[in-house]
Amino acid sequence: MREEAEGPARDALTEQFPEAAEQLSRYVEILRTRGLEWGLMGPREGDRMWSRHIANSLALLDVVPLGLSVADVGSGAGLPGIPLAVARPDLEVTLIEPLLRRANFLGMAVEELGLNDRVRIVRGRAEEISGRYDVVTCRAVAPLERLVRWTHRLFVPGGVLVALKGESAEDEISVAGKILRSLGLSAEVLELRAARGVEATRAIRVSPSPAAG
Ligand SMILES: C[S@@+](CC[C@H](N)C(=O)[O-])C[C@H]1O[C@@H](n2cnc3c(N)ncnc32)[C@H](O)[C@@H]1O
Repeated sequence: MREEAEGPARDALTEQFPEAAEQLSRYVEILRTRGLEWGLMGPREGDRMWSRHIANSLALLDVVPLGLSVADVGSGAGLPGIPLAVARPDLEVTLIEPLLRRANFLGMAVEELGLNDRVRIVRGRAEEISGRYDVVTCRAVAPLERLVRWTHRLFVPGGVLVALKGESAEDEISVAGKILRSLGLSAEVLELRAARGVEATRAIRVSPSPAAG
């Protein structure tokens, strides 16, 4: 394990979020050990826990206002939902995940990190569950058009969807144009960075269209 390569990102993030540093380190350890053993993280991911997975997740903090309810759809091993919950004790976070093994992993991680009082796990597909959230987050789950179709009942009206995305963001917005318009939503691309010196990421934020107001 080339943990040393992770040093600068880990240092930048733990300096930026000192109160979350210990819990984030414990979560990274859970991902590096049981996350790999349970087959939820690929073998190469061990070298980019801080520099990619934690950095990308925490980049969303800037777009999540204080004291809200957040649903992380397709949470997998807890990304981005667990780092967000750790760094922001004001948030109520629901991790939505259909697969049993992943939901069990989430339960174990939430328990070990002592987050049970405000992190809930819902086993199911986003389009089949009920609930209403101020912010829905997603990473690496589906193209935007499908995400909007699956999740709009969870955040419309009034809430937002923030989906971490790469270079395809603009194309995904074009493809999703019809469903966005039909729901009175608009989408924008954001460039986000959790701390100086760590990798930046891109996200699409979907919110009520001003024209629909
Ligand atoms: C590639 S993984 C990404 C996991 C995590 N978000 C990450 O960034 O590491 C995609 C996850 O989405 C989940 N998923 C797929 N379809 C879904 C749906 N309709 N509703 C909720 N989750 C879904 C899968 O079970 C899987 O855990």
